Amino acid sequence: MIPRLRFAHLPTPIETLPRLTEKLDGPRLLVKRDDQTGLAFGGNKTRKLEFLVAEAQAGGADTLITAGALQSNHCRQTAAAAAKFGFDCTLVLVGEPPVQESANLLLDDLFGAQIVWTDKAHRDKVLQTSFDSARVQGNKPYLVPYGGSNSTGAFGYAYAMDEFVSQGVKADWIVFASSSGGTQAGLVLGARLFDFSGKILGISVDEPQRDLQIRVAKMASETSGRLGSRIEFAADEVLVNADYAAPGYGVMTGAERAAIQLFAKSEGLLLDPVYTGWAAAGLLDLIHRGFFKKDETVLFWHTGGQPALFAEKYQNDLKRT
Ligand SMILES: Cc1ncc(COP(=O)(O)O)c(C=O)c1O
Repeated sequence: MIPRLRFAHLPTPIETLPRLTEKLDGPRLLVKRDDQTGLAFGGNKTRKLEFLVAEAQAGGADTLITAGALQSNHCRQTAAAAAKFGFDCTLVLVGEPPVQESANLLLDDLFGAQIVWTDKAHRDKVLQTSFDSARVQGNKPYLVPYGGSNSTGAFGYAYAMDEFVSQGVKADWIVFASSSGGTQAGLVLGARLFDFSGKILGISVDEPQRDLQIRVAKMASETSGRLGSRIEFAADEVLVNADYAAPGYGVMTGAERAAIQLFAKSEGLLLDPVYTGWAAAGLLDLIHRGFFKKDETVLFWHTGGQPALFAEKYQNDLKRT
């Protein structure tokens, strides 16, 4: 048995997006609301943390340590899970401490996480040092992987696919934001285990296509192995579109702003400025280019992240027309 804690609000709802579908003249669009998973404004990390925190508990850990960007959703959710289950939490964040904390960083603080600042080049080393010094101080640290993405975190999305299939809603495509790959690895494995026959397309936020395909295939294979009979996934069967990843992590483009505004104005649905807004911009471009057939159903799997809408960094970007 793979240890799991149950704290996510599941199943997350699936909604139709009729006004957006009509505006775009098809395909039929749906959204699965994993921005509503319940823990500290929700998001995809909640599902992964059900397995990661359970593993930490089973191993007798008392401290969760992880790393991410200054406005990391993963770090915010890890800090919240740590608070909920009585762990200490150390977050290694890439950037400089801002004069005014906002959005996810403000929440990290509220959850009582200890923040260690670093730059990108030293991130892994600082993470290791933080882990080692927690040990030296007599704590039992558990390293939550970057983005919650490893064969433990990926179980969250393997079982999310079980949930989706059980909801009885048919989709030809599932489209979502992909970055550290755990969400996609879980979905790819889950599709095989629970008989989802549609296509699973990750829109890369920051990774080159081949790198992400290889990572996802490897993680999905490893995760399957932990269930008893390993399935070997090939990189080529993992669908990744990295055409929209060029401007770089966290950079808001005009297309992304337009996508966030379109979803908000047509459906009252909030996307985030780093992941889902980006994936939605890719989705809209693919629709405009006729990538999907008009009679197909495309499910946009919302992975959360909306607290970042309130990050100081995006205030002006979001207002521009
Ligand atoms: C809101 C949101 N969507 C998508 C992703 C990407 O998920 P994954 O890292 O599992 O590929 C993240 C990762 O941080 C995220 O915060």
